[in-house]
Amino acid sequence: MVDVLESSLLGSSPQFAHVLAQIRRIAKFDVTVLIGGETGTGKELGARAVHYLSARAAQPFVPVNCGALADSLVESELFGHERGAFTDARHAAPGLISEAEGGTLFLDEVDTLSLKAQAALLRFLQDRTYRRVGGTQTRHTNVRLIAASNANLEELVKTRHFRRDLLYRLKVMPLVMPPLRERGGDVIQLAQIFLERLNRDYQGHTPVKQFHPDLLAALKRYSWPGNIRELEHFIQREYLMCEGAVLNAELPQDRSAPPDGEERYNTVFKQAKARVIADFERSYVASLMTRARGNISRAARLAGQDRSAFSKLVHKYRLASEPEQEQDSADH
Ligand SMILES: Nc1ncnc2c1ncn2[C@@H]1O[C@H](COP(=O)(O)OP(=O)(O)OP(=O)(O)O)[C@@H](O)[C@H]1O
Ligand SMILES: [Mg+2]
Repeated sequence: MVDVLESSLLGSSPQFAHVLAQIRRIAKFDVTVLIGGETGTGKELGARAVHYLSARAAQPFVPVNCGALADSLVESELFGHERGAFTDARHAAPGLISEAEGGTLFLDEVDTLSLKAQAALLRFLQDRTYRRVGGTQTRHTNVRLIAASNANLEELVKTRHFRRDLLYRLKVMPLVMPPLRERGGDVIQLAQIFLERLNRDYQGHTPVKQFHPDLLAALKRYSWPGNIRELEHFIQREYLMCEGAVLNAELPQDRSAPPDGEERYNTVFKQAKARVIADFERSYVASLMTRARGNISRAARLAGQDRSAFSKLVHKYRLASEPEQEQDSADH
């Protein structure tokens, strides 16, 4: 069997090797895991690795983007509902926990759950039983829970946006994905691997490319606020824009140079923030569209937004139809 870790989670810096060792170990024990780390550091990949290295590997891995669940629907999405439980409930639905039976339920962006949803989740975690919305039967379940968040949950506990008791229940086994800028030589290693993949994918369509040493130096200097996702997209975008055989795109000066004054700092901050927001927005919309199986109206409902505003976002990020369109979009 191909090693799921080595084939998906790339990197060999000591910092990352430590994380991989933790993942292998955590996978063996059937405990709840809480994965932290900045956006784009590989939290979801890490969760998948834990699942596929565990004894539950042959059972489902069910990802749930908590940020994409309208508050009113959280409980029915997770626990299911009986027919007629609420206005739209024409049929009974088993819910995501039931879908994950025997396997792993991955609660992504768990910090976005409302306090009401947190209370429901806590009840479930206490005894692993639940009832469908509108149902009376108590159901037992055997699922492993992995939660992830890029927020500082301890801070959210202090400001009373996140329940302390829920944090303790989730954080049985904490795992933190390190930011790319703290992973030493991994930036270059990953960049080379992404470039090799592109050279393979576009063989015959564009000259085989390599990095200019100046670009390699810039990649090392840059702080990568969007982490591996940002690196991957940056290389893809520059690759597609480059006509020759040597990639020497510049990372914008102000992004890689240290800030030397308030103005510069503000620009850097604003740009980084805009990028992170765009990244977030795109993955949020993408995950809603996946959950809604490509149906914009349904995805808009899940987001609690009106269809036309949501549809604009879908088109902005070119998430409207075929998956290959998503591949092509290297514009953020
Ligand atoms: N170690 C890695 N090796 C190769 N690719 C990686 C690695 N870590 C992350 N990636 C890639 O980077 C992208 C982001 O990863 P992932 O979705 O797991 O991050 P995340 O931490 O869940 O981000 P977010 O907080 O924004 O949801 C994905 O395309 C993933 O395949
Ligand atoms: Mg994620």
